Amino acid sequence: MKKTLCLYYSRTGTTKEAMTRLADVLGCSLRSYTDGRKRTGALGYLGCCFASMKKFIDVNIDGEPDLEKYDRVIIGMPVWVEGPCIMGKSLLMKYGKQFNKEVYYVVTQMGTSDYTKKIYALDEYIGRPSNGHISLRTKDNDYLKEIEAFAETLKEEE
Ligand SMILES: Cc1cc2nc3c(=O)[nH]c(=O)nc-3n(C[C@H](O)[C@H](O)[C@H](O)COP(=O)(O)O)c2cc1C
Repeated sequence: MKKTLCLYYSRTGTTKEAMTRLADVLGCSLRSYTDGRKRTGALGYLGCCFASMKKFIDVNIDGEPDLEKYDRVIIGMPVWVEGPCIMGKSLLMKYGKQFNKEVYYVVTQMGTSDYTKKIYALDEYIGRPSNGHISLRTKDNDYLKEIEAFAETLKEEE
């Protein structure tokens, strides 16, 4: 069985919910990553918009796990301002080279736009092609069912 770590950033709980379900189905570790700033409410939303203009924000993984011991890392992040959020991008900039085996992305978004190209552009930070991704549309959609199906495909690879 592959030793798997699920990581997520979540402002309002949706990505956390999806990643929690994924980790439950896979029976693997789950940790959050964050810049430590509270980003709730309207002011928090505005802060996210400003943060999205930055090139990098220092994020840390809860509990600072030893990343090199995992065979597979699955990174959850929401879309902010038409692309994967700066927190996810910064996580990959900081730790990407330590994700030295399989890497998957789980991206949550409100709308129906296709961000696939921008998501795979994150591969630049791991220095090689990632192993796959799923985009979950959260509005009027059973995204938990979708993440469960995704988890089953990952289980088949074990
Ligand atoms: C600052 C900001 C910008 C966003 N921009 C987009 C966007 O461009 N497209 C989209 O589909 N959703 C956008 N969203 C919605 C989130 O991607 C979506 O609600 C996501 O599931 C939230 O995840 P969370 O609850 O884990 O924070 C945006 C959210 C925030 C806070």
